[in-house]
Amino acid sequence: MKKLSLFLQIIVVILIAKESATLAPSIKPCPLKSPNLADCVIKSIESLKPEIGTGIYGPNLVADVNLTKLVLSDIYVDRSFKLKLTQIKGYGFNNFKIEKLRINPENFKIDAIMLFPHCDVYSKYALGWNLGIFTLQGSGDLSVSIDNAKVLLKIVGSTYLKNGVEYLKVDTAQINIKSAKMKLYFDNLFNGQKSLEQAANEVINQNLDIIKGEVVPLIEQRISSVILKISNQVFASGTHKEFFPH
Ligand SMILES: *[C@@H]1O[C@H](CO)[C@@H](O)[C@H](O)[C@H]1NC(C)=O
Repeated sequence: MKKLSLFLQIIVVILIAKESATLAPSIKPCPLKSPNLADCVIKSIESLKPEIGTGIYGPNLVADVNLTKLVLSDIYVDRSFKLKLTQIKGYGFNNFKIEKLRINPENFKIDAIMLFPHCDVYSKYALGWNLGIFTLQGSGDLSVSIDNAKVLLKIVGSTYLKNGVEYLKVDTAQINIKSAKMKLYFDNLFNGQKSLEQAANEVINQNLDIIKGEVVPLIEQRISSVILKISNQVFASGTHKEFFPH
């Protein structure tokens, strides 16, 4: 009886191991001992761009999020100004280049510098900003164009065992927008009085640091949690050995 149950356990483990050995063909593994592991990881991620764009990595791996149309949760700021952003959608985040990458495979840490040549963000906004002499106020459509964004990405992960097989997971992902050229346009400020609207938008863009200081950390947080989600879905789809043969 003991022997039989051990036998069954082994069969189950083999079946599960077999089932999990289905790394999507789009994912290129990187040998752990490779002398240029970082280059391999850069190539592997960059070759995944179409899949990162659609969210479809393979028949058994469809991520909840795609970077062609990146949907972010609402943002509220209530500081020196009040700003509410809803229905936030980002475009162009699937078009990136990894300028530099460092990977420490032992404790699974990745640092990367990524470049995004051009992204657009659209949302609904409600703004109230008391500037003393007058109040900037309105609600409607906000468009943000972002050029040449340089982004620092820090990933810290770990390994865990599932059915006796080692897997990778990402514990924290943090992005930091180091530099970017941003231009905002708040449509319908001053209830659509066009000349006032245009003048106000100019003032806003000349004083962008105030808005950026409050809004960018929230955007970074939202995008970080998207990256955490996507990377964990991807890493759950294969074993440690499948991603990094060793
Ligand atoms: C990406 O996600 C958005 C929002 O969830 C969805 O509308 C879109 O169909 C998805 N796929 C692509 C390729 O954009």
